[in-house]
Amino acid sequence: MELPTPMTGSSRPAPPRGRAAGATQPAHADAFFRQIVAGMRNGVLAITRDGMVALLNEEGYRIFGVEPHPDDLGKPVAEVLRAHPDVVRQLLTAFDLNMLPNRAETRLRPSGKVIGYTFAFVRDDGGEIAGVAMFFKDLTRVEQLEERERLRDRLAAVGEMAAAIAHEVKNPLAGIEVMAGLLRRKIPDIPDAQAVLKDIIAEAKMANAIVQEVLEFVRPIRLQVEHTSIANAFDAAVSLADTKAARGTIAVDAGIPADIPQIQADHHQLTQLFTNLLINAYEAMEGRGRIAVTAGTVQQDDGGEGREAVRIELQDNGPGMPADVAEHVFDPFYTTKAQGSGLGLAIVRKIVDAHDGQIDLRTAPGSGTLIRVTLPVSVSRDDT
Ligand SMILES: Nc1ncnc2c1ncn2[C@@H]1O[C@H](COP(=O)(O)OP(=O)(O)OP(=O)(O)O)[C@@H](O)[C@H]1O
Ligand SMILES: [Mg+2]
Repeated sequence: MELPTPMTGSSRPAPPRGRAAGATQPAHADAFFRQIVAGMRNGVLAITRDGMVALLNEEGYRIFGVEPHPDDLGKPVAEVLRAHPDVVRQLLTAFDLNMLPNRAETRLRPSGKVIGYTFAFVRDDGGEIAGVAMFFKDLTRVEQLEERERLRDRLAAVGEMAAAIAHEVKNPLAGIEVMAGLLRRKIPDIPDAQAVLKDIIAEAKMANAIVQEVLEFVRPIRLQVEHTSIANAFDAAVSLADTKAARGTIAVDAGIPADIPQIQADHHQLTQLFTNLLINAYEAMEGRGRIAVTAGTVQQDDGGEGREAVRIELQDNGPGMPADVAEHVFDPFYTTKAQGSGLGLAIVRKIVDAHDGQIDLRTAPGSGTLIRVTLPVSVSRDDT
């Protein structure tokens, strides 16, 4: 097959999707090949030996996040992909390689998208290298799923052990609490002993709460999905958090717009999610400060068309976290608190995952912490 010479303004009607340079083959064959490339679910980019764009299909434009222009074909690739100098460099140096990378990955800036790609030489009829083609796919979604899978494996291993221990510890703990209570009643006249027994009971209760939390964490989530209002779940969380942590004078400014769509979600799980986030913020801020809560709709990037999602952000003006803490906060049992069990955010993550959502955080020492939760409006079609 002859390499299409970059050409614009073809007299033939433009293909319905994608853009490809005209070619010298019979019209029907040309159209056929154009349709194959245009309809591909992979991105395809081809350049000629002199670095001009010969082809970039619609999926390619989408993945690169570049607006298509009718005169892109025939332009230097460095100009069309101005935003992606790394990709351009790789393409242009490919001509000097004997062996092209068969399967490689790179992260696109600034979108953070991960793409997997392969290169292939395009040869002319004489077998000479006339261009390079790049076939690529947006792996962001795949990466997320893989990471989730890894987390799930890790949780399964940690969880199994924790559940076994928690189960064993539960009964003796209850025993300690009951017996300390009995003893307290038997020696009402010894104030010192009363004080010690009171402490024993309080400690046993706390240990029991941790055991309950562990068991709750390892229990698989069964979502009771219904049309759920984010604002209602959040209000319930504010009340619940007050019963579990000291809020002091911290102001919670909930700016969740009334017109935010209801989502398919489990109201109780969402309440727990927000409660854990609020408790963390209260604990970090030690009774003083402000938590600003905002929400809006976004297109969730799922590596495909995107789907409608609701994004909720909690910004506190607490102490923030250094990078080495932020990196681990979602790990089960990771805590910086003397009395913490380190399960709060692990549970949050589990709930977000169960809803097929995303969570990330932005934080630095002295700059507070922003937690962003993105939840799809409707339950996943699971078409990946
Ligand atoms: N809003 C926040 N500001 C500063 N640090 C935070 C914030 N939220 C979480 N962290 C840090 O993340 C760690 C992990 O949080 P996580 O909720 O998982 O566990 P925990 O709060 O320590 O214990 P638990 O929630 O089980 O009682 C905390 O120990 C804290 O260091
Ligand atoms: Mg916590």
